[in-house]
Amino acid sequence: MQISMRAVVMEGPGQKPVVKEIPIPTPQSGQVLIKVDSAPINPSDISFLHGAYSSNKQFPCVPGFEGSGTVIANGGGIIGWRLVGKRVAFYSQSQFGTFGEYSVADALGCLELENDITLQEACCSFVNPLTVISMLEVAKEHKTQAVVHTAAASQLGRMMVRHFQANGVRVINIVRRDAQVEMLKKEGADIILNSSDSDFLEKLKNVLQTLRATVFFDAVGGEQSGKILEVMPSHSTCYVYGGLSLKPVGNVSIMDLIFKDKKVVGFWLTQYVKSKNIISQALLLNQLKGLIKTNLKTIVAKTVDVSEFKEGLDFYKKNMSEGKVLIRFDQKQQQEQQQQQEQQQQQQQQLQQQ
Ligand SMILES: NC(=O)c1ccc[n+]([C@@H]2O[C@H](COP(=O)([O-])OP(=O)(O)OC[C@H]3O[C@@H](n4cnc5c(N)ncnc54)[C@H](OP(=O)(O)O)[C@@H]3O)[C@@H](O)[C@H]2O)c1
Repeated sequence: MQISMRAVVMEGPGQKPVVKEIPIPTPQSGQVLIKVDSAPINPSDISFLHGAYSSNKQFPCVPGFEGSGTVIANGGGIIGWRLVGKRVAFYSQSQFGTFGEYSVADALGCLELENDITLQEACCSFVNPLTVISMLEVAKEHKTQAVVHTAAASQLGRMMVRHFQANGVRVINIVRRDAQVEMLKKEGADIILNSSDSDFLEKLKNVLQTLRATVFFDAVGGEQSGKILEVMPSHSTCYVYGGLSLKPVGNVSIMDLIFKDKKVVGFWLTQYVKSKNIISQALLLNQLKGLIKTNLKTIVAKTVDVSEFKEGLDFYKKNMSEGKVLIRFDQKQQQEQQQQQEQQQQQQQQLQQQ
């Protein structure tokens, strides 16, 4: 029986991750043990690896917040018991995150999968899709007909284009490169502005005169945030939900805050979900089903074996708009098996030719 597993391990906050063998964890009551199939690298993982993310994880730990796999053991409790043997997408805040061959998650953080979805398709089901569903709720609460969104060519941005459009809310997409304009057009986006254009703010002002968006979802921060908020209508709210520029939110006009009732607040999915009662949480999860393969699907750029974690991470950092990099655990074995099969076929062909 297997007692150890391959995993990405961090010894302390911000310490360089290493791939090594560690004991397979034991789930506690209310938790399940999952044999992981695939796990994506997200911006939140990069922040965590740099020691810049809020988490209760104890060190040493295995990073990775979401993934997919098969539940193989229950730590105790009726929900976990029902999940044993089932294929799931899951979210894990535990010490044993998703970048290990086995991971521990709350049974309540698992979504049982339908047969028509593969584990690779399902591994990005939580972080971005749930955020987009929650953001739509926020936009509806504000009764706004449109929202402004930065870093809009992200996977989350593309989901937002599809899901908001399907639910009658327009998206004013802001990207930073021309190539990203083309990417978003393919998703069906109709309003795309490039923040690198010299007349960007003028163009945004013009669009806002017609659409009157009062909600701004900002994933970037830095100098740009306040400038965008300044051209938005009175009573607008900027929801800062990412820090891709690695800079504090800047240029927020004091006049805007005092006299125009504009606001800058944070948005964090974990907190948003926690603020809901258990029935609303279940309804939120239920919305995911059916949408993961359609409006809330994720593009995958590359899959790597866990032993190639560093290469995968470097590739992702340089090619974020291309799609997610998935960490997999049977990839090396599969490659080796395939190579063996190919060698055997070649040998057979050579023998037949002789
Ligand atoms: N608060 C929450 O609860 C929550 C939940 C989910 C996601 N998020 C956030 O949502 C954002 C998108 O996540 P994702 O997984 O969809 O990302 P992703 O697919 O990996 O894409 C990241 C995008 O950000 C762009 N980008 C990177 N640095 C930038 C900068 N300094 N200025 C402008 N654009 C920049 C990249 O463009 P290039 O190709 O040009 O680099 C790329 O298009 C992240 O900030 C993430 O942390 C937050």
